[in-house]
Amino acid sequence: LRVSAGLIEPDGGKLVELLVEEPLRGLKKKEALSLPRIELSSIDIQWVHVLSEGWASPLTGFMRESEFLQTLHFNSLRLPDGSVANMSVPIVLAIDDAQKHSIGDSTSVALFDSKNNPIAVLKNIEIYKHPKEERIARTWGTTAPGLPYVDQAITNAGNWLIGGDLEVIEPIKYHDGLDRFRQSPAELREEFTRRNADAVFAFQLRNPVHNGHALLMTDTRRRLLEMGYKNPILLLHPLGGYTKADDVPLSWRMKQHEKVLEDGVLDPETTVVSIFPSPMHYAGPTEVQWHAKARINAGANFYIVGRDPAGMGHPTEKRDLYDADHGKKVLSMAPGLERLNILPFRVAAYDKTQGKMAFFDPSRAQDFLFISGTKMRTLAKNKENPPEGFMCPGGWKVLVEYYDSLVPA
Ligand code: ADX
Repeated sequence: LRVSAGLIEPDGGKLVELLVEEPLRGLKKKEALSLPRIELSSIDIQWVHVLSEGWASPLTGFMRESEFLQTLHFNSLRLPDGSVANMSVPIVLAIDDAQKHSIGDSTSVALFDSKNNPIAVLKNIEIYKHPKEERIARTWGTTAPGLPYVDQAITNAGNWLIGGDLEVIEPIKYHDGLDRFRQSPAELREEFTRRNADAVFAFQLRNPVHNGHALLMTDTRRRLLEMGYKNPILLLHPLGGYTKADDVPLSWRMKQHEKVLEDGVLDPETTVVSIFPSPMHYAGPTEVQWHAKARINAGANFYIVGRDPAGMGHPTEKRDLYDADHGKKVLSMAPGLERLNILPFRVAAYDKTQGKMAFFDPSRAQDFLFISGTKMRTLAKNKENPPEGFMCPGGWKVLVEYYDSLVPA
């Protein structure tokens, strides 16, 4: 695939692609069958997907110890030329004592899925200790019990990490009807070039689009046009990997996003809807750096950030886990993100005097209504409507259908 000269360069200068070329796949499969085996969880496979397409460029596989330590301590990786690329969340593969033992002196291992299909080969491996408590504390800023990703992927994981260079045998597919939306960074770059984009602005999300989100996106477009860009393209980029149990599942979100475009809240002519394959950490200001960094690799040079990105409620206390303003502050200062234009936004809320979503004005706080995710869920579950102007009717209908589908018959 051609990489346009006009788009922002990937981190490290070249987009990493770790797929084995088609004619060599048969051989690679054979090789995999001869090597010590590691079975991957579904989150591990999502990381293989992320790595294989270069979202984490310049990483060429699961992190070795030096990359892991740089990530934890500096939120960035030192490149051969002395510059730094941002890297804020560890992309690591855990193994247990028995697996470590079975690997023995082998310098390569094969990665299999739970149905015993070979997925990849990991070469020039390095095995090192998995300091779980420190990883959790440094990534999330807390070891409070109940962090979703920790419960799902770290607590019961092995005491060792295995890093190395990844060779992925075939493109990762999910066969859920949504694979056509999972464009790789190279494919997205191709699409932006085809559309003659002179600016690409990314919007990361894991929730249904309400008119507050839309306001951030339409306001960005207006600002970019004012700055003199002629053809800014929006990358509406829902996260498609692991999310916590009470988030709306990807398939329903994709239906909702489709309605948002159909109802004209966003303009299909200037919007690319695609799925970001990463799993979600809910690590707030640390994770939002990863969200932004990955979009550089997909060709975005502007990144929208609003209230409490990648945040969630504290697992044991009645408050947000992170300060809602820290995400955008940290992003604007993050090492290795200097090339990315960060567009920070104030919180949007429902303005009762205008009957629509607007930027919160603290001087007349009483005019505003905050409709939280929980509030939205409660309304949809009870088949009540949110105030008019909160979300387009087509999009809201999808949410009601989703919550309806959860009610046991
Ligand atoms: S996230 O985990 O992907 O960050 P979400 O889908 O809720 O969560 O948010 C997507 C983006 O919209 C983030 O940049 C977030 O800061 C922003 N955002 C969400 N809600 C609001 C709001 N009410 N006002 C301003 N920005 C918001």
